[in-house]
Amino acid sequence: MEHFYQDIPGPQSHRLVSLYMHLIPKLPKKKLNIFEIGCWLGRSSAFLAVELTNQDHNFLLHCIDIWTTALPTQYVMFNPDGEASNHIKQIIDQDYRYVPVVDRQLDKDLVRFAAMDPMIEFTSNMQPVISNIKIHKIESIKAAAFVPDNKADLICLDDDHRYEAVIGNIEAWWPKLQIGGYLCGDDFSMINWPGLVRALREKFQHVTVIDLHGNTYSLDSLPRHLPSSAWFIQKTES
Ligand SMILES: C[S@@+](CC[C@H](N)C(=O)[O-])C[C@H]1O[C@@H](n2cnc3c(N)ncnc32)[C@H](O)[C@@H]1O
Repeated sequence: MEHFYQDIPGPQSHRLVSLYMHLIPKLPKKKLNIFEIGCWLGRSSAFLAVELTNQDHNFLLHCIDIWTTALPTQYVMFNPDGEASNHIKQIIDQDYRYVPVVDRQLDKDLVRFAAMDPMIEFTSNMQPVISNIKIHKIESIKAAAFVPDNKADLICLDDDHRYEAVIGNIEAWWPKLQIGGYLCGDDFSMINWPGLVRALREKFQHVTVIDLHGNTYSLDSLPRHLPSSAWFIQKTES
């Protein structure tokens, strides 16, 4: 099946592509239960679903998001002085101080995104793989409460990267993971998301960081100037 994620608007996906390409071959050949939290318009979900299909996996991909606005509000990259910003600030009430990156194309696109219903867009974008997808419009930690323990083979966090949110996600989702399964996520970056890095260091001894070229590092062997990367942990005991 041809990949189509490139046609879906979203943050640059090279880190998640590298992460998923690393993890998908490691998943067992059985009916997989996969959870992606923070899907926005479906760019990373589409990559994941097509690649799982192409690697002959039998799977159900649970896509969880609040989809309250067309914008990835905790994460969106935009220029506070950009042309879209005043418009956006009227639409969502957020604290932008932690938004680090300027992306002028996305800044322009935000005006267009603000007019969308993101869940309808997501559903429409996912049509080629919809038979393998379950859509859950619900907040992450509330969603975890509905998932039985030891159910998930892969859980990917790409929602709220602030410290308290990451701690909350880890506490809610870790018990849902089977032994052998993987918890993973995007944006391992001391510069952009120090709270995420701190939360991972506090909660886990063994985190693998993977850069966009697929190089992997342990927490105590990180290169000095590591660009924003992805991360994963394999569950070896409960
Ligand atoms: C960076 S975007 C996800 C990007 C997506 N993975 C992609 O490839 O396009 C973050 C998403 O997380 C969602 N989100 C933020 N906080 C959330 C929460 N507490 N529970 C569920 N979803 C949340 C936002 O609605 C937004 O769609």
